[in-house]
Amino acid sequence: MTTLVVTVALSLKPTSTPSPAIPSPVSGSTGPGPIRTFTVINHCPFTIWPALYTDLNVGKSVPSQPTGWEQASGATVTFAVPYNWTAGRIWGRTECNFTANPGPNSCATGGCNGGFHCDTSIGTGVPPVSLAEWTLGVNGKPDFYDVSLVDGSNLPMKITSNKGCPTASCPVDLNPACPPELAYRNANGVIVGCKSSCFAKLSGNPANSPDCCSGLFDTPETCPASGVRYYRYFKDQCPDAYAYAYDERSGTALWTCDSNLSSDYTLVFCP
Ligand SMILES: *[C@@H]1O[C@H](CO)[C@@H](O)[C@H](O)[C@H]1NC(C)=O
Ligand SMILES: *[C@@H]1O[C@H](CO)[C@@H](O)[C@H](O)[C@H]1NC(C)=O
Ligand SMILES: *[C@@H]1O[C@H](CO)[C@@H](O)[C@H](O)[C@H]1NC(C)=O
Repeated sequence: MTTLVVTVALSLKPTSTPSPAIPSPVSGSTGPGPIRTFTVINHCPFTIWPALYTDLNVGKSVPSQPTGWEQASGATVTFAVPYNWTAGRIWGRTECNFTANPGPNSCATGGCNGGFHCDTSIGTGVPPVSLAEWTLGVNGKPDFYDVSLVDGSNLPMKITSNKGCPTASCPVDLNPACPPELAYRNANGVIVGCKSSCFAKLSGNPANSPDCCSGLFDTPETCPASGVRYYRYFKDQCPDAYAYAYDERSGTALWTCDSNLSSDYTLVFCP
């Protein structure tokens, strides 16, 4: 699904671009589709700082929920999402201190430009970070959603539907056994994230790499999963997640739900 691959690739470069105008938040059940309810649950035994980002280049509709918030262990947060939310993502930030270091380095993993509230145009998470991604269906198109490890991983997560649509997940903590050349450590040396082979620059040039599906390797045909180093580390443990840019061919990466069902979605961290 092209849109999702594009949004994944965008997060690899959380760099400065001119800020477009920030649209007004959508509220109430106006418009041709129903509002969806999203629930975020933190089952991790520690506080996380979830972040929410909408790629405004793909769609202008945004939830009224802030782009970042603090969520204690065991806490549940529920919010409304407009029917036409496009290219939206949620991830978890860990070990944050926004006082000491506001900006993308305020967290051990997942920090964003903007600090506590991620910037609405350049506030994607710094890899390695596990992403929950959605494109809600309009005009008869299905909802698309996935758990993406394309930018590496930091926290286990699971997306469920209240209408019986498939579960997208990476329920395993990939940090402890992360291969040494991919391990991402905090200031105390603890592994807090596991980089993708692309982000780890294992092949030297990320602009022309079979690990990044870039340059000469930028199509599904020239970038098979077998050419992506450590693909199996991620996919074997998290078969229902997106483990590299063209992983939809696995049949267990990108999930759909009939948008006529107007499914609500629940995202659980550390399920
Ligand atoms: C999304 O829905 C809102 C509320 O109905 C509407 O104002 C907006 O124009 C829609 N955006 C797109 C891109 O369809
Ligand atoms: C955050 O950083 C500030 C400044 O370094 C420090 O005073 C404070 O104790 C830190 N907070 C936490 C919760 O570690
Ligand atoms: C979804 O609803 C629309 C409008 O009611 C209908 O035309 C379409 O056939 C439905 N699609 C499915 C897959 O049921």
